Amino acid sequence: MKSEFLEKAVFYEIYPTSFFDSNGDGVGDVRGMIEKIPYLKSLGIDGIWLNPLFVSPFKDGGYDIADYYRVDPRFGTNDDLKEFFEKTKECGIRVLLDLVMGHTSVEHPWFLESQKAEKNEYTDAFIWQHGSEPLNNKNGKCISGWAERPDMFMINFYVWQPALNYGFRKPKAKWQNAPHDDAPMKNRQRLIDVCKFWLSLGASGFRVDMANFMVKNDTPSHRANQEFWIDVIGRIKREYPDSVFVSEWFYPPQAVGKSAFDIDFNYGGPLYKVWGQKTIADSHKKCFFGEESSSAYYFAANQMFRLFHHGVKGKGYQAITVGNHDTERMAEGRSFDGMKTMMAYHFTAPHVPFLYYGDEVGMNYQFIKTKDGGYNRTGSRTPMQWTEGKNRGFSETDGALYLPVEDANGRSVAAQENVPDSLYETVKRFIHLKKELDCLRVDAQFTVLKGRFTGRPLLYRRRSERDECYVLVLPKKSKKKVRLSFLKNGAFESLTGNLKIENNIAITENGEAFGVFWKKRT
Ligand code: BGC
Ligand code: MG
Repeated sequence: MKSEFLEKAVFYEIYPTSFFDSNGDGVGDVRGMIEKIPYLKSLGIDGIWLNPLFVSPFKDGGYDIADYYRVDPRFGTNDDLKEFFEKTKECGIRVLLDLVMGHTSVEHPWFLESQKAEKNEYTDAFIWQHGSEPLNNKNGKCISGWAERPDMFMINFYVWQPALNYGFRKPKAKWQNAPHDDAPMKNRQRLIDVCKFWLSLGASGFRVDMANFMVKNDTPSHRANQEFWIDVIGRIKREYPDSVFVSEWFYPPQAVGKSAFDIDFNYGGPLYKVWGQKTIADSHKKCFFGEESSSAYYFAANQMFRLFHHGVKGKGYQAITVGNHDTERMAEGRSFDGMKTMMAYHFTAPHVPFLYYGDEVGMNYQFIKTKDGGYNRTGSRTPMQWTEGKNRGFSETDGALYLPVEDANGRSVAAQENVPDSLYETVKRFIHLKKELDCLRVDAQFTVLKGRFTGRPLLYRRRSERDECYVLVLPKKSKKKVRLSFLKNGAFESLTGNLKIENNIAITENGEAFGVFWKKRT
């Protein structure tokens, strides 16, 4: 649904273990997040997405939950979280929790019951295939040799993440339920109960993990999952009409256009990073906002962006992320000018921008050993760098930190705050502009004026009834001159990075530059 809040909103993703440690145990916690509310407020964000912070053995960074109703003691208590909801709300910030209900942890009491030989209330709460065929058979990944009962259970991700049973779109075997059978419907109700519990404590919505994979055997149309969420979100919104649901689906026309989500992620593909490259640095170089920027990347990114934009128009939103807890940090292989140019696009294109904690100061991806099931994602989950001092201001502990911080290198809030043109100040400026300017609303006109097919240079206009702005982005390191004829038509205020304007011509000596020029219309 269209929402005034989402038209202008900017979201900030926090990995709670690594944001701020208030009690000196080397691990981030909810009280630490409460202490940092003034920071979040001054950054100007409107919403927060918290990665899971529920009771968990942390074999997949908390995406393996053992109790949906309780904050894990490493972070504090439910009361702390409630206080966080209340205090953020006072600042106009809404908090989304991570809803991970496609699977539980093997330590969840529902699963401990389900795996028993004796029949009980939870026997069919998970997907059990009879027998012990090998892993990875045609019906999904199944684990044998674990349970007391003579069956194997289907997993969604790691071995310790058994899939909850929401049924199969077209059941083909006796052990498969249809989505409206008794056991799947009971799980559906359990999911709704969990959502309502947290909404009643003050959460504002959810980012939904693996949302297109609740009902199985549903590709490529995902029709059964669409039906599932239309029912679930519909029932929740009857009581909480303003709640926000963000899906991890990666196909906005399906998740938003045809289902009930408010926002779906568009990973940004060839725009910010190209998957499947040999090295991490390569994937960040070979994309539109990378050192090896080319028109092919732009063309692909633009096609995708437009397809999604039209697919969700009037119904909801797409969100591009510059990075998250599953990807390498955006700083990898990028200069500060490159990052600022990318942010210029990120905050002025018609979508709901998400920002991953630490990217506002360009924290690096660290090549470190896995922790809590992060594997190669661990390097993007290191403690927030607040200062250049001890533990980078994350914790007072003299002992070990959850994960190492980088050596002091200017990539911290203290080093960049109040430094004109720093990445931090640039991002902050964009976040505030996104709120202040009507022409940056998602529903404001978006017209590409130069570089429609090549993106080189890329010049576009955003326009509302009240104001308009022109955005020039030059992601490639090269000398460039671009005539900006619109500058003749009135007084524009401008925000530029690494760009000189002479006689209405934008000039950059070394590329990786941007300009945003805006003026009132009425
Ligand atoms: C989350 C991952 C997690 C996986 C399994 C993903 O989409 O973002 O961090 O490992 O789901 O829950
Ligand atoms: Mg702590």
